[in-house]
Amino acid sequence: MSLSDYFQPTEGGDIVFSVESSKIKFGCGALREVGYDARSLGMTRVVIFTDPNVAKLEPVSIALDSLKGQGLDVAIYDRVEVEPTDRSFKAGAAFAKDGKFDGFISVGGGSVMDTCKASNLYSTYPAEFLDYVNAPIGKAIPVPGPLKPHIACPTTFGTASECTGITIFDFLEMKAKTGIVSPRIRASLGILDPDCLKTLPPLVRAANGFDVFSHACESFTARPFTKRPAPADPTKRPQNQGANPYGDIACLEAIKLMGLNLVQAVTAPKEANLEALMFAGMLAGIGFGNSGCHLPHGMSYPVAGQVKDYQPDGWISDHPIVPHGISVIVNSPSVFRLTGAACPHRHIQAAEAIGIDVTGIDEKDAGNFLANKIIEMMKITGIPNGLKGVGYTEDDIENLTDGAFPQKRLIDNAPMPISREQLKAMFQNALSYW
Ligand SMILES: NC(=O)c1ccc[n+]([C@@H]2O[C@H](COP(=O)([O-])OP(=O)(O)OC[C@H]3O[C@@H](n4cnc5c(N)ncnc54)[C@H](O)[C@@H]3O)[C@@H](O)[C@H]2O)c1
Ligand SMILES: [Fe+2]
Repeated sequence: MSLSDYFQPTEGGDIVFSVESSKIKFGCGALREVGYDARSLGMTRVVIFTDPNVAKLEPVSIALDSLKGQGLDVAIYDRVEVEPTDRSFKAGAAFAKDGKFDGFISVGGGSVMDTCKASNLYSTYPAEFLDYVNAPIGKAIPVPGPLKPHIACPTTFGTASECTGITIFDFLEMKAKTGIVSPRIRASLGILDPDCLKTLPPLVRAANGFDVFSHACESFTARPFTKRPAPADPTKRPQNQGANPYGDIACLEAIKLMGLNLVQAVTAPKEANLEALMFAGMLAGIGFGNSGCHLPHGMSYPVAGQVKDYQPDGWISDHPIVPHGISVIVNSPSVFRLTGAACPHRHIQAAEAIGIDVTGIDEKDAGNFLANKIIEMMKITGIPNGLKGVGYTEDDIENLTDGAFPQKRLIDNAPMPISREQLKAMFQNALSYW
């Protein structure tokens, strides 16, 4: 492809990429319009999904007033678990089924938006729980048809769940994170209102910020779409298409915005930072929603799923959790040190976008430069020091490797083939950074 050398055609590789995204509304105060949007989508009887903490905050009362102001019948489901499990997906789906709602509104972070997507799915097309779940844990049966309309209103900025056809949960029985992936579960509209971020605790901001950064960096350094085997027919083209020219634009801008705003947004936040972070989160979401993440996210699933006793400040949860953004970024420096060799120029571009002076950088140091910058930012923003910082030791490396290696959707999207030994070495090198 003439747009970049990275997209050279390969034998048997795909020649087409597609672009999909939710409709988005963005701006301070946008949440006040949710009632109009719900009516436009034909909703009359809706449920607001939220978690017990966000339920007490302003965004829920703003959404409630706006929906009632437009004459809608509104119920509230405020029992979403933070870092949701199959148990909480099932509970949300049961509430949704009983309520016979014709529309869904989620107000909260990724945990809330994901639970709302799953509840919409299982109440609209009831099935055995594992039917729609990604293989190999589930059967990955395609979602049978369109879901009820869903307006996703994030109160965090990291996951971009409002843009993606993905929902993630912790499968308790296997102590493993997995999910459901289908364009059909994408929200009908995302309302991004930076005013909703004002109350976010500092470490949640940091975790969200690094989630955004890693989404963008992973998608930008992913295997090019031209190296992924062409699908047997166009309906089989995966959402994780690999890096592509459209994703690149969104990702590079997101990395730049994170470089300019992340540290300040945690240490001395200003309103302008919040707007930039939310915009960056959305851009990275469009990027990874079409290109796909790779190793740091694939490795994050067992890091979150096999949690021991880590309980971070800022998350309201009655059990230990390694929050998503933290479970990702503790792996990222170790990964980029390895993947730097596969596409050095892309790692240099990412390093430049985050604000490093790359003049004269030798290509063989590209991954290290990027990794060192991430580590510096992790230290300033209070992120734990690698896997040891969230409670793991040398003895856990085998189990973590076993948990990550089957995450084919993500591992295969890395810019180079990854053996089990390499994966294990990356966990080893992620134990501590300073
Ligand atoms: N669907 C996707 O595409 C996708 C992508 C990445 C991550 N995820 C999932 O999203 C979840 C993480 O979501 P998250 O990082 O947005 O956080 P979250 O929803 O888990 O919330 C984190 C904490 O912040 C609180 N909180 C939320 N908004 C707040 C606000 N405005 N003020 C004060 N406190 C607030 C919550 O109550 C919670 O205690 C994980 O389960 C992860 O696996 C999904
Ligand atoms: Fe993520």
